[in-house]
Amino acid sequence: MEFTDFGNKLSSHSGILQLMDDIARPLPEGVKARPLGGGNPARVEEVEKAYRRELEKLLADGDRFEDIISHYDSPQGRVGFLEAAAAFFRRTYGWDITAENIALTNGSQSAMFYLFNLFSGKAGDRTKTLLFPLMPEYIGYADQGIEDGTFVSLPSRCIYYPDRTFKYALDTEAVESYLSSHPEVGAMAVSRPTNPSGNVLTDSEINALSALAHRFGIPLIVDNAYGLPFPDIIFTDNAAPLWNEDIVLSMSLSKIGLPSIRTGIVIARKEIAKAVGNINAIAALATGSIGPVLAENLLSSGELTRLASEVVRPFYKAKADRMEAMIRRYFEGTEYFLHRIEGSIFCWIYLPSLRIPTLEFYSVLMKEGVITVPGEYFFFGSEEQKEGHPYPHEHYDRCLRLNYCGDECLTEEGVRIISEKYREYSV
Ligand SMILES: Cc1ncc(COP(=O)(O)O)c(C=O)c1O
Repeated sequence: MEFTDFGNKLSSHSGILQLMDDIARPLPEGVKARPLGGGNPARVEEVEKAYRRELEKLLADGDRFEDIISHYDSPQGRVGFLEAAAAFFRRTYGWDITAENIALTNGSQSAMFYLFNLFSGKAGDRTKTLLFPLMPEYIGYADQGIEDGTFVSLPSRCIYYPDRTFKYALDTEAVESYLSSHPEVGAMAVSRPTNPSGNVLTDSEINALSALAHRFGIPLIVDNAYGLPFPDIIFTDNAAPLWNEDIVLSMSLSKIGLPSIRTGIVIARKEIAKAVGNINAIAALATGSIGPVLAENLLSSGELTRLASEVVRPFYKAKADRMEAMIRRYFEGTEYFLHRIEGSIFCWIYLPSLRIPTLEFYSVLMKEGVITVPGEYFFFGSEEQKEGHPYPHEHYDRCLRLNYCGDECLTEEGVRIISEKYREYSV
């Protein structure tokens, strides 16, 4: 048996596979798990109750439930939801869109897979690339290109503050210069808020990227899985949602209570939304109906966004504040820097004195039952890496991503153990 290049590339080891495996894999006997690794959101009771109410209404409504589960939706998604979503975004932000500008997918992970491969890879006799203008970026993108070597990236700038925090920033001039000298770039992509760092690109940064996308005639893909208006896990003011014909905005219901139901929402110019629907038809026939059905009334009535801003955001903000306090307490006296927690469900800690790469430190921590994600996976797409060198960013092998939304006692034990091991493994 022989796999194709596509088969080998997509079925071999990847960071995202390790991460999803770690979520599910039991630790050796007797080792207590402190799970700070995967991307699972927390359970938020009030949000769960809202979906339960929707489901109960559905079940009580004659044979509507049976009718829904016994039909495929259209490849672009459930028509009622597409119309409700278009009306909601028109009303809320004045975006000039209709149902034809929206496509649903089985989670935003698949949306990114479709989009990245729509815009990078072989196009006639040329090979198009996808530019990530601000590394580090989401581990789940790194291996999504069907063809090898089509993802390129630029390292972020880094601003350090006196209180041991830092923030990644866009090097706009570097992006502009890269685009000017690389006409093969087919699209740019960012997550906002960013997984892993919790960074939120400012309004002026996203506007600058959008202007560059327009000037160079390429789409800017913005992954809004944690952003506004839902789930609203975003703790800065300077981060209004942006959509225009140059932007492909990807949203998700996962971080607002429905990770297992797999509902991604892509808002884009009509040709792109249609293309996403067409890929859906080939790859999956259609998208699952239950997510859109559960969310439709909540979205139209404003309840989903109320839950996001009044319940989900304060819930995660309290957890983020506790995490920051824990890190400050346990790492006191060590050389550490914490990325400002501006959004998402992670924090990102830079450990410059570590004498081993974080990939090795990850294994040290794993033996203690502390599951983290080593930073190396979040840096991809450099020329240097293709030649076997590390990614050219001083943070490359000295950062850990920690999920802060699990059980508080276990999270605290995890942070304590990481700080102890950091002291032990410092230069
Ligand atoms: C930045 C980002 N994008 C996309 C996803 C995929 O989410 P889903 O496919 O559940 O919508 C995740 C999941 O953690 C994420 O962190």
